Amino acid sequence: MTARAAITGWGKCTPPVKLTNADLERLVDTSDEWIIDRTGIRERRVSHVEVVDMAEVAARQALAAAGLAPTDLDLVVVSTMSPEIVCPSSACLLQERLGAVNAAGFDVNAACSGWVYGTAAAASMIAAGAAGRALLVGAEKLHWMIDYWDRSTCVLFGDGAGAVVLEPAADDEGVLGIDLGADGKAGRTMVIPTMGTRGSLTAERNPYDHYFHFEGQAVFKIAVKGMEASVLRVLDRAGLAPEDVDLVVPHQANKRIVDAVVKRLGIDPGRVMINIDTHANTAAASIPMALNDAVDQGRVAPGAVIVQTAFGGGVTWGSTAIRWGERTEPLGHSDFELPPCDKSVFELLRASREFFGPMHGKTNADAVPPE
Ligand code: ACO
Repeated sequence: MTARAAITGWGKCTPPVKLTNADLERLVDTSDEWIIDRTGIRERRVSHVEVVDMAEVAARQALAAAGLAPTDLDLVVVSTMSPEIVCPSSACLLQERLGAVNAAGFDVNAACSGWVYGTAAAASMIAAGAAGRALLVGAEKLHWMIDYWDRSTCVLFGDGAGAVVLEPAADDEGVLGIDLGADGKAGRTMVIPTMGTRGSLTAERNPYDHYFHFEGQAVFKIAVKGMEASVLRVLDRAGLAPEDVDLVVPHQANKRIVDAVVKRLGIDPGRVMINIDTHANTAAASIPMALNDAVDQGRVAPGAVIVQTAFGGGVTWGSTAIRWGERTEPLGHSDFELPPCDKSVFELLRASREFFGPMHGKTNADAVPPE
């Protein structure tokens, strides 16, 4: 290892259309009170554009914040479990959009742990001298794979993107420690069979083959124990203790999971970044979006020790310990935005409701709720 990778730029993309708990009350048998009480979520975003469109907005912000041009990059990594196509990778589609002609590009899929795995990959390449300036993006369009007739999953997820620029660090800044792990056997608790080669090429798309199988309570227990153990390991590797942590930026899957993890770690809840109320679970995008909000809100001080921790499908988990640099202000700003959306949230969810409707005895006429 030759150099630590430090975060020098940050950005996010929040698509404009909101899906509130009140909207969900019109789609499934749920309530604002149940969702807030069990998850901490009040609203989430539904994207009218593709993953690379969101990734581009976040990436251009991160590059501007770092004061870099796309041609300065030599690595683009996109963490996603919802790529718009399989090949080219989202990273290569983004590389073309940005004009990052000097950069290599590849995708990482570790579901909701994708951001931590992507950080580990990019930071390790920088440390090994295989890359200099890297752009890492977490971007997800999860609504595409969710059944909006199924109240047990449709309230949990949102769309969005977040990005950072990583560069070789000075002194003791940057990624101080990495912990990654997986348990394929426990992976049966969360399965999204869509978008793979399994099944017949000729068969019509069948909603039963695309159904998101999810054992919420089992995942909850794995998440709490897995993230606690992972944070302790990463702190140990970095020579730090829980009391040294200035800010935890956890994967935003469920506020109760985060509360339980930080309680077990003995970390003050005031040192934890939560934005699940407005974003919900955006898988690989959740940590960079929360980190971006933390910096914008002045919650990241120069030299702060930040722990990122996540768990997700696979089952996977991971944590990083990072020492922030001296600069907490962006060097520049990007005005690049998503195109406006003229559709209602119910129109954006129509495809899901029509596709999965027959599994619930519903027809296309039921897809969009009456005014
Ligand atoms: N509205 C109202 N009631 C609901 C809803 C809803 N949206 N969803 C479920 N319920 C009902 C259930 O049907 C059940 O009713 P019953 O008692 O009559 O059978 C009752 O509420 C309790 O259901 P539980 O599943 O026991 O509720 P729980 O408190 O465990 O909360 C939740 C469910 C929020 C899913 C929780 O288990 C959780 O957050 N799990 C982890 C999710 C997660 O972290 N996922 C991230 C990984 S995803 C990935 O990587 C792709």
